[in-house]
Amino acid sequence: MLTDKEMLEESRKIFELKIEENEMLDFYKVFENNNPVHLEIGSGRGEFLLHKSVQHPEVNFLAIELKEKRIKTIIRQLDPKINKNVRVIKLFVDEKITDYVPEGSFQMIYIIHPDPWPKRKHHKNRLIQHDFIDVLRKILKPEGIVELSTDHEEYADWIIQHFLERKDFESAYNKGFTRDLGEEHIETFFEKKKREEEFEPFFMKYRKV
Ligand SMILES: C[S@@+](CC[C@H](N)C(=O)[O-])C[C@H]1O[C@@H](n2cnc3c(N)ncnc32)[C@H](O)[C@@H]1O
Repeated sequence: MLTDKEMLEESRKIFELKIEENEMLDFYKVFENNNPVHLEIGSGRGEFLLHKSVQHPEVNFLAIELKEKRIKTIIRQLDPKINKNVRVIKLFVDEKITDYVPEGSFQMIYIIHPDPWPKRKHHKNRLIQHDFIDVLRKILKPEGIVELSTDHEEYADWIIQHFLERKDFESAYNKGFTRDLGEEHIETFFEKKKREEEFEPFFMKYRKV
């Protein structure tokens, strides 16, 4: 009988990808198929990843999350029989993602409730910046899609404004956002918590053109 720690170690061997120096990921080797790959940045406790990967077994999902505790929470929930199409990387995502992810890798990129860094002096820490959007563009396939959400109104404005300033992405929504994704929507831990505090999310969606 394996202990909880040993079970986690076994699951890590299956689901966790480690990036070696000077290594480019080869998603055909990783997933052993040519299915499209979707990336989630900042997966938190993994609700979105877990639901989405079961809803779409024909898609491969790569989740990148910075915090060790959250990586463990995600991996503990993954089952080798059910979640064959999932891999997780523990890493801080920034512009250097192109050092290990080939250009044109992803059909979709999800950034769900990224940290809003509300203080003006911290805005430089926000993930969404023009340099980072350039990188998103590089790692997306032609006509690839970026989906974002935030309950922070000022960060929503920031995201909408940044994408509006660009000719290489077009918004799926006339107003630049929607407040309702309908039945398909997957509520994450963070979104649930913020809704309880009466913060309703904004959802944005951009297509690479
Ligand atoms: C506000 S939480 C949202 C988590 C989850 N998406 C949800 O909706 O519940 C933001 C998450 O992004 C992770 N994160 C923040 N910056 C990151 C980065 N540059 N690379 C990877 N993960 C990041 C944090 O560790 C945290 O788990």
